[in-house]
Amino acid sequence: MLETAIEAAREAGALLKLHSGKARSIERKGGQETNLVTEIDRRSEEIIIDRIRRKYPHHDVLAEESGGKERHSDYCWIIDPLDGTTNFTHGLPIFCVSIGLEHNGEIVAGVVFDPNHDELFTAEKGKGASLNRKRIRVSTADRLINSLLVTGFPYSLREEPDEIIRHFNNFLLESQALRRLGSAALDLAYVAAGRFDGFWESNLNPWDMAAGVLMVQEAGGKFTDFEGNPSTVYKKAILTSNGLIHEQMMEVLRRGQSVKK
Ligand code: IPD
Ligand code: CA
Ligand code: CA
Repeated sequence: MLETAIEAAREAGALLKLHSGKARSIERKGGQETNLVTEIDRRSEEIIIDRIRRKYPHHDVLAEESGGKERHSDYCWIIDPLDGTTNFTHGLPIFCVSIGLEHNGEIVAGVVFDPNHDELFTAEKGKGASLNRKRIRVSTADRLINSLLVTGFPYSLREEPDEIIRHFNNFLLESQALRRLGSAALDLAYVAAGRFDGFWESNLNPWDMAAGVLMVQEAGGKFTDFEGNPSTVYKKAILTSNGLIHEQMMEVLRRGQSVKK
């Protein structure tokens, strides 16, 4: 199944790379002016689902552009056909394909493919995480001030910006540096690879994180909600880190949350 996900991600990724910055039809979705979807998001999703269905016709699929809430099988493929659509529409080469495989409610395999750098991140439950087939581990930074962090902003930011911006400001002052790449799946893969020490975001969807959270965990890192409770891909708020700075990140999030409007 992992090989099927890899083949699908590579094929879809090649399409994304070919059309980066060249999407012809760009629509707005979810009633939000900034939430974009292109014909390439949809074509990428078709390629992935088609490959999966050919091998596993009875498995469920939960995909960003076509949905799929009903459950019939023990297996569910959770797909983001283009993570980083805003970057993609501007021709900024920071985007990827993300495919996670859930079995009886547990993520058991994940693939994140970055076609711009030809980087293939994979993880299998209990078997570790890899980048281009070489084992990866989370970083060893144990202080926030020595840590490079990353975050993202939801499309709903303008509805309730205060707390999100407060967290951003707080981490900016407490960390070594802070980045915003625009692709949550890559953010997570980079935490797994030790490039980032921690990542948080307040409003993600299962397809943004299914593959990436398994990668972080299999690379030795930690995945919880903002309070440090064990989490799932169906909870919106996510905190991941190398484990060593987790408590320190929770403390910063606590501080940001405690200020009431
Ligand atoms: C978005 C990206 C972004 C994150 C947003 C996501 P999309 O996904 O992962 O980094 O901040 O919350 O919705 O729309 O490019 O697939
Ligand atoms: Ca996404
Ligand atoms: Ca997407």
